[in-house]
Amino acid sequence: MRWTIRTQLPVAYEIIETPGLLDPANPELLRLPGGATGRQSRLVVLDHSIDDLYGGRIREYFDANDAPVTYLSMPGDEESKSIGNVLDVVTKLNEVGTNRLSSPPIVIGGGVLADVVGLAASLYRRGIPYIRVPTTLLGQVDVSVAAKTGVNFGGYRNRLGSYSPPPRTLIDREFLATVPHRQIRNGMGEIFKMALIKDLRLFELLEEYGAELVEARFQETAVVRPPTGIADEVIGRAIAGMAEELQPNLWEKDLRRSVDYGHSFSPLVEMRALPELLHGEAVAMDCVFSAVLAAQRGLIGAGDLERITAAALRLGLAPSHPLFCDTELLTEALADTVRHRDGKQNLPVLTRIGAVTFLNDLTGAEITAAAGYMGRLLDPSSRPAAAAVTG
Ligand SMILES: NC(=O)c1ccc[n+]([C@@H]2O[C@H](COP(=O)([O-])OP(=O)(O)OC[C@H]3O[C@@H](n4cnc5c(N)ncnc54)[C@H](O)[C@@H]3O)[C@@H](O)[C@H]2O)c1
Ligand SMILES: [Zn+2]
Repeated sequence: MRWTIRTQLPVAYEIIETPGLLDPANPELLRLPGGATGRQSRLVVLDHSIDDLYGGRIREYFDANDAPVTYLSMPGDEESKSIGNVLDVVTKLNEVGTNRLSSPPIVIGGGVLADVVGLAASLYRRGIPYIRVPTTLLGQVDVSVAAKTGVNFGGYRNRLGSYSPPPRTLIDREFLATVPHRQIRNGMGEIFKMALIKDLRLFELLEEYGAELVEARFQETAVVRPPTGIADEVIGRAIAGMAEELQPNLWEKDLRRSVDYGHSFSPLVEMRALPELLHGEAVAMDCVFSAVLAAQRGLIGAGDLERITAAALRLGLAPSHPLFCDTELLTEALADTVRHRDGKQNLPVLTRIGAVTFLNDLTGAEITAAAGYMGRLLDPSSRPAAAAVTG
């Protein structure tokens, strides 16, 4: 005998820009998936920094709306992306008496907390909905669109996780006003990637206004700021690009993913460098490294490579790091990425600024040559123009 069960899971989730999210008159934070407002007891998980900076306003918001909520404050740094913290969230969900559908927890914080709470929600009663409020740039342009949750385990990034998008993600650019500049640059790393793989206009915006956007933390009230509308356009294009790439391949059945650009060598570098390098910083370096690989093959010209390196510098991102000169480590990083891509390199590389192709025949010699170029980039006097692609 044999039984086959076939079913389909329709998935829809929203990313909603909502300025003034913490204004008690703004109902978005109270809404349940589907749009209704509930009165059930709910857990609100706050990033430590968010609790410090916005805790008062958040409590006022829920008080003013008579919403029965319980708060849990958690650290939002990469070392806290652990299964232990997932279990702490689960414990709290129990205490609050979370319902299966009608009292989704709310997570307000950076990408780390979103991943931790998302994983907890996906495990709790085998999966409950949750609401995500990303408060960092990386969170708003990248995590916001993602279906994935996860924690680090055994020395590897995101080794445990799930695909469970929250039905609602709420974005308010105002949160960025308090994000440290380094964290803004970190988010810029992902926007840089998005520009490189599919959006020349976005790349040009970064070339022209990237430095001001970082300086102003995307706020139009800042002293040094880009022209009105640029912050929204950059965030909007980054989110739209991400959504367009993810939608047809949400479950990653196709392991040739252009959004993996900048994520082939960086995961291991990032883990080995912890806590020195942030995710977006490592991603930006991988974007440059992968551009070097493309230039070595003649897929892009030396001029494009220089432009890419110069744009990274203009965003305040270092284009290289000693670990990106370590051939052994880079080879090991690619080997793990190949396992992640189920035995294939599927290595996204640029064919121009704004388009990618995939390689499956990258050699050790190419890695060694590119690592040499990354070494020369470490010397400010030899970048970006003077570091020759070969030799
Ligand atoms: N699920 C996905 O598909 C996906 C996609 C991209 C990244 N990620 C994950 O996201 C994580 C990185 O996220 P991140 O860059 O947001 O880092 P983060 O969550 O570590 O936050 C960075 C720091 O900023 C603080 N912070 C958060 N919001 C703030 C605010 N408004 N003002 C001041 N400080 C604030 C946090 O407390 C933390 O110290 C990584 O673990 C990465 O793996 C997940
Ligand atoms: Zn990333």
